Amino acid sequence: MKKPSIKTITVKNITNFIFIMVTILLLITGFNFRALSKTAIENQALAHAELVKAGLTAQMKSGVMANQGFYLEEIRELKKINKVAIIRGEAINTQFGTANPEGLFRDQAIQQAFVTKTPVFTMDEFNLTPTIRAIIPYIAKPEGALNCLSCHEVPEGTVLGAIDITLDVTTYRNQSLLVLASILFISLSFLLLIIVNTSQIIQHNIQEPLNKLIQHAKLAYKKNQPISTDQFTTSEFTSVADEINLFNNEIIAHQDILQGKNEQLVALNNEIENTLRETVYTMGVIEEKRSQETSNHTKRVALYSQLMAKRSGLSDREVELITAASPLHDIGKIGITDDILLKPGRLSNAEHEIMKSHARMGYTMLSHSKRDILQAAAITALQHHEKWDGSGYPQGLQGEQIHIYGRIVALADVFDALFSSRIYKESWPLSKVIEHIKNQSGKHLDPNLVQIFLDNTADFVKITELYPSKSST
Ligand SMILES: [Fe+2]
Ligand SMILES: [Fe+2]
Repeated sequence: MKKPSIKTITVKNITNFIFIMVTILLLITGFNFRALSKTAIENQALAHAELVKAGLTAQMKSGVMANQGFYLEEIRELKKINKVAIIRGEAINTQFGTANPEGLFRDQAIQQAFVTKTPVFTMDEFNLTPTIRAIIPYIAKPEGALNCLSCHEVPEGTVLGAIDITLDVTTYRNQSLLVLASILFISLSFLLLIIVNTSQIIQHNIQEPLNKLIQHAKLAYKKNQPISTDQFTTSEFTSVADEINLFNNEIIAHQDILQGKNEQLVALNNEIENTLRETVYTMGVIEEKRSQETSNHTKRVALYSQLMAKRSGLSDREVELITAASPLHDIGKIGITDDILLKPGRLSNAEHEIMKSHARMGYTMLSHSKRDILQAAAITALQHHEKWDGSGYPQGLQGEQIHIYGRIVALADVFDALFSSRIYKESWPLSKVIEHIKNQSGKHLDPNLVQIFLDNTADFVKITELYPSKSST
């Protein structure tokens, strides 16, 4: 999953924070504005109530109470009042007759105003046309210009009646909504500005320097170039660049040490391998001496094998392996007793079988080792008497069942046996050797290797000239 960027996290947090702040601001403003508006409307209703009271009192005093409805309608239109009605209390009913056809307390709000002797206000603000209803009781008091007790024969504090006014508060509500909308608009504009500004700050001060730092850190490592701290404008990135430079210097210093150690190890490994190669070669020479083999046989077989391995397209390592391993192809002969190994005449069938066991013995001697040179030597020792047509020993393998090392050493061994002189025989002439090898193609020898031999006979001969055979002592 892709991880969020610093910019995304910051913008998200700022948005959340501002959203909460704006919500709180809107709630506080909304409630305050509502409370202020309500007080203003209530005061307006109270003022209307006083005006009506004065009008009614004047009418009462001048004896024109019958025109009350006309008067109220005039006031309603003048003051833009939705509804206005007068509710008479018991005392007025008694004094002037009942004028409330719906009954004194036609609803609970009126009853509440009469009982509590205080104004009752009811807001209906969630309508399309919001209104406030005010029921304001007229209480008999002796003081003021309108001394009620002078006309009404009631005890002080009696509720003479009440005015029931309904006012339209759409203007107030619209003003509230306008204020809230303005706050919202201003807040969102600020939010947008803050987001754009924050994004730019992060882009210029974090993302861009960070990318620059990564690029220069790579170069610093690859080309050993310290990061220049002048290109960073903030202390944080300058410090990081300094740290990377220090760290990089340490890595480079360690790399040099490691490289030195590595070279030492490679040299040591080469020495081990050379020592092993020399030991293996010496073992081959020891065997050669004991078998009274013609001299330099081991050396020549190694070089013929190397030549054929190269021309066969084997890898460099395989060429090295067969060159080092081929001198041990007859090492198993160490396990053959002198009376058979050095017998001058023909071997009996039983003796010949014992002689043949040198292949397996060589394998047994070498195969315990995990070193690839000795593994290659074990394969060569086991398979150098196998024949392409399957008539060889000890396993009677055929064709490519025989390992390439076994096939190569077989040809090298045959060529050297025929082309070098032995105590008991002269070497064959080259033409006869070539003829014989050609003849053995696909029988004793791998046809591909025979072809390689035929193509490179001159090089084979050169090897015999470099390392000639002398009578063994
Ligand atoms: Fe052999
Ligand atoms: Fe040999």
